[in-house]
Amino acid sequence: MTQPAHIVWSLRPISHSDLESAYGLHKEAVGVYVAGTWGWDEAFQRQMFVDRFTLRREVIQVGREDVGVLIVDERPDELYLELVELTSSWQNRGLGTEILRWLLRRAEELQRPLALHVLRANPRAIRLYEREGLRVVEAEQHRFLMRSAVHDRRSSRLDARRTRRLCGLWRGGRP
Ligand SMILES: CC(C)(COP(=O)(O)OP(=O)(O)OC[C@H]1O[C@@H](n2cnc3c(N)ncnc32)[C@H](O)[C@@H]1OP(=O)(O)O)[C@@H](O)C(=O)NCCC(=O)NCCS
Repeated sequence: MTQPAHIVWSLRPISHSDLESAYGLHKEAVGVYVAGTWGWDEAFQRQMFVDRFTLRREVIQVGREDVGVLIVDERPDELYLELVELTSSWQNRGLGTEILRWLLRRAEELQRPLALHVLRANPRAIRLYEREGLRVVEAEQHRFLMRSAVHDRRSSRLDARRTRRLCGLWRGGRP
């Protein structure tokens, strides 16, 4: 089986002029899951989107094409994926997996878990996150909190040192 070709993507800062297209994308990407959870009231959803529109959003690009949005929050105890939405023509082509793996590598560098909330009404996204090693750690009424494991390199080094020391003792050497 051939592997899908690597997708070259990048991020650019969002601006206020992106608000309309970002709302269109939001509605297209998660509207069905929001509707399945709370129902979709257009006026309410629009107002909430405008109120919460933040310049912490980044636009995902492939070449010069805008294909999605991403919000990642680097918190002291975790790397939190607040939002990932891809336009429908870019879904199911491997891009989400690549972005997730990039975030997992970043979390690993920081020695923190990658965490996110996902709607219970979105089983396909849950499947993707599980496939990439995240696990449900908390079940809320409408959402799951999912988190990746932290492979603690520092404590592995300490463990290795401790093991060497114990081996030294066992052989009668100096710890
Ligand atoms: C979820 C999402 C970022 C995944 O990116 P992607 O590039 O489509 O994913 P990939 O091609 O790398 O992997 C395919 C997997 O993504 C998930 N996926 C694909 N389309 C999806 C969609 N419309 N909604 C949710 N998950 C989807 C599925 O697990 C799929 O695997 P499957 O075919 O075995 O079910 C993207 O599909 C998306 O933006 N979906 C709509 C918005 C959304 O659900 N965001 C996540 C909120 S927590």
